[in-house]
Amino acid sequence: MTILIQGAMDIELDVLKDYFKPTEVRTINGYEFCLCEYRGNKIIISKTEVGIINATIATTIGIYEFRPELVINQGCAGSHRSNIHRGDLIIGEKAAYINNFRTRQAKLLGEGSDSLSWRPSNSHSYVIGSTPIYVELAERVEYAGKKYIGVIGSGDLFSKEVDRINYIHSLFGELSEDMESVATMKVCDSFNIDKIALRIISNNEITNESFDGNVCRTLQQFVIPFIDKIIAR
Ligand code: 5AD
Repeated sequence: MTILIQGAMDIELDVLKDYFKPTEVRTINGYEFCLCEYRGNKIIISKTEVGIINATIATTIGIYEFRPELVINQGCAGSHRSNIHRGDLIIGEKAAYINNFRTRQAKLLGEGSDSLSWRPSNSHSYVIGSTPIYVELAERVEYAGKKYIGVIGSGDLFSKEVDRINYIHSLFGELSEDMESVATMKVCDSFNIDKIALRIISNNEITNESFDGNVCRTLQQFVIPFIDKIIAR
């Protein structure tokens, strides 16, 4: 089968590249795709770059160019729960778009802004599920740390305001925040392609755990046996 694995940044892809050993690197419209052969399957390692727009473009190009049967979006994320810590892994049963708000109360010049009163806008609300069979398979892959299953929040935001983090959580129930996964979910959904999002916690602004990019390597070590399980199925 053909599997497209995505990461936004080099630190989210280096272990995978070392392991799957690309035979070709193709840059299409500025987005990098590394082509690998693995036990009779095609693995495409895609660097989406950071953010919803980049992830949307990279996923669309990846689907048109390589026709994958499955897209795995993986990388780091901030925790939106006080009891979910750096190094904990989240299997994204669903991805929710947490960056789509309408201002409710008008405020005049000089009256400031109150993001805790903003309401999600229905017109572009996305909550999109990962393909259940891949959620089940990911659950069965061993992980030395803690593993959670739930909603992954995603949008063009990096939240460091605890009240706002809690407010967003009260609306969407997300365990974490990243900047790409919901874009991948949405594009795959519209193309009817299987998908799953996996995230590892790199920072927790509620408990003051600052960003540690090293966890991305731990997640990639999880993705490799996950791929083996998918292929063996
Ligand atoms: N909020 C948003 N994105 C985060 N990322 C890691 N932590 C967070 C956070 N707290 C991920 C994003 C993006 C990069 C900044 O790291 O997905 O690719």
